[in-house]
Amino acid sequence: MRYPIYRPRRLRANENLRRMIRETRLSTDDLIMPLFVRPGRGVRNKISSMPGIFQLSVDEAVKEARKAADLGVPAIILFGIPEAKDARGTHGYKKDNIVAKAIRAIRDKVEDLVIVTDVCLCEYTDHGHCGVVRKERGGGFSVDNDATLELLAKMALSHVQAGAHMVAPSDMMDGRIGAVRASLDDSGFEHIPIMAYAAKYASAFYGPFRDAAESPPQFGDRRSYQMDPPNSDEALREVALDIEEGADIVMVKPALPYLDIIYRVKQEFGYPVAAYNVSGEYAMIKAAAAKGWVDEQKIVLEMLTGIKRAGADIILTYYALEAARWL
Ligand code: PBG
Repeated sequence: MRYPIYRPRRLRANENLRRMIRETRLSTDDLIMPLFVRPGRGVRNKISSMPGIFQLSVDEAVKEARKAADLGVPAIILFGIPEAKDARGTHGYKKDNIVAKAIRAIRDKVEDLVIVTDVCLCEYTDHGHCGVVRKERGGGFSVDNDATLELLAKMALSHVQAGAHMVAPSDMMDGRIGAVRASLDDSGFEHIPIMAYAAKYASAFYGPFRDAAESPPQFGDRRSYQMDPPNSDEALREVALDIEEGADIVMVKPALPYLDIIYRVKQEFGYPVAAYNVSGEYAMIKAAAAKGWVDEQKIVLEMLTGIKRAGADIILTYYALEAARWL
């Protein structure tokens, strides 16, 4: 008897054969590059836990956006670091807020780039929470869901009025997609899509981002509004709600520890799915690569391909520009 009959290795014999049966193709088209913008001119502040990523003043953000466009990256997502913070995050939605300024400058100077904005209060509040905080008797606190919706809707509108092509609410309040959708529609922006951070987990992988955005909570944590990591059915309910309220793209965040969620969301809804390859995922690879422990290029392309294979159509990643160079 001659066996084995089926020899999968036959089709792995050389690169051309492997190319012919390759199921997943990572492309620059899949990527969104996050940028952090802050007041000033000529500012490029290093972020120690995210080597290669900077807090940029608007003029520098324009240069970075142009780099992304030149490399064929289709979109950027903007995060703002305001000149001042207060309890209600007013610098996040006041006229001429930092993100609005960046949008205008980038739209003016870089054509053919989709400008997405992160819509959340945590970068703008002095307490660092993603919504309006109420002190409870006995020393506790809670984040007031419905009082927050109004502010998020204002913020989204301020970005779109400045020229944002898409908004991405990341706060995890209940009902925020509906609130943002209604506010955009009422002002004649029914054509602007919403990318909802639909299944966003309370994750330790956001640590470096909070250095970058200067947004760590000053007390407590985000577990009363972001999802509990062991849950998966609940992610589907969150996604279903966001779709019902008008989300056009649904996001799972973080990516690597939640590949099963990406898979289930894609299978269940067939909507465009985005995955956020977050700051901690980036920082781990940067740190290991700096020590010479891993081959950075290979490991990054394998990671991004895995996220796509799980079901993501879009990947937000701090590696977007480097990956675009490698692809
Ligand atoms: C804002 C927001 C966060 C991230 C994206 N939007 C931080 C948080 O929820 O604490 C994290 C992104 C990253 O870690 O790269 N709420």
